[in-house]
Amino acid sequence: MNDRPTPLLRAEGLVKTHHGEGAPAHAVRGVDLRVTRGEFVAVTGPSGAGKSTLLHLLGGLQRPDDGSIWLDGERTDSYTEARWAVERRKRIGIVFQFFNLVSNLSVADNVELPALLAGRSPKQARAEREELLAELGLAGKERSMPSQLSGGEQQRVALARALVNHPPLLLADEPAGSLDSKGTREVMRLLSRFHQRGQTILLVTHDARLASAADRVISFFDGRIVDDAELDGTSPGRAGISGVLELKD
Ligand SMILES: Nc1ncnc2c1ncn2[C@@H]1O[C@H](COP(=O)(O)OP(=O)(O)OP(=O)(O)O)[C@@H](O)[C@H]1O
Ligand SMILES: [Mg+2]
Repeated sequence: MNDRPTPLLRAEGLVKTHHGEGAPAHAVRGVDLRVTRGEFVAVTGPSGAGKSTLLHLLGGLQRPDDGSIWLDGERTDSYTEARWAVERRKRIGIVFQFFNLVSNLSVADNVELPALLAGRSPKQARAEREELLAELGLAGKERSMPSQLSGGEQQRVALARALVNHPPLLLADEPAGSLDSKGTREVMRLLSRFHQRGQTILLVTHDARLASAADRVISFFDGRIVDDAELDGTSPGRAGISGVLELKD
């Protein structure tokens, strides 16, 4: 086991407690995780389990109270906010559970913005944007504002924005959260296609159909990993979460 390659993402002993109104919420209670380059990992679990908190810790959007995170072998938990902002542009694409797009920017500008911030020329940013929007079935929507798009279209724009800088790691938090089954299938198909081309994906979802598209399903409950199952691409388990759950014990 010691000759495994450096994981793209590694976390050890992650802990995060939220102090809001009322009692503290122990959202993440000691998580160890390794994600290999090229893997498609789904983190699934009930509402309030701590899935979004975990994703925010991994993407540097929240700070862990304890524990360490490595991206491609390099410690990231000691990064300053400014360093994180730069690293995120290049190395981590994030699709958020809520508030995905900048509402007063067009579709084209939403997708080009991270590329421009990362130092691409306007011409390069535009070329990347055109390619991604075409790939995601959104050609012709460039000048639309987010409010003029369907929920599924907005999520696809969010995916384009997350991928425009070709980040080694994609973190996606409920990317089909508000979608009907057709929209969910569409997002799943797109994630699978990017994965087949080598994209490493960590997908957070309570949706078993989405989770079953992954190589590996981590069950998260009450701030902890309670199960971690590789899905065999050839087994019937691939067809749905019920097969995955049967792998337990
Ligand atoms: N900013 C915050 N302040 C206080 N408590 C928070 C905060 N964010 C999350 N929590 C609490 O931490 C726990 C985990 O929340 P989290 O959003 O990580 O869960 P989740 O698994 O993503 O849930 P869902 O499936 O509903 O999105 C919950 O009890 C939640 O109320
Ligand atoms: Mg969440």
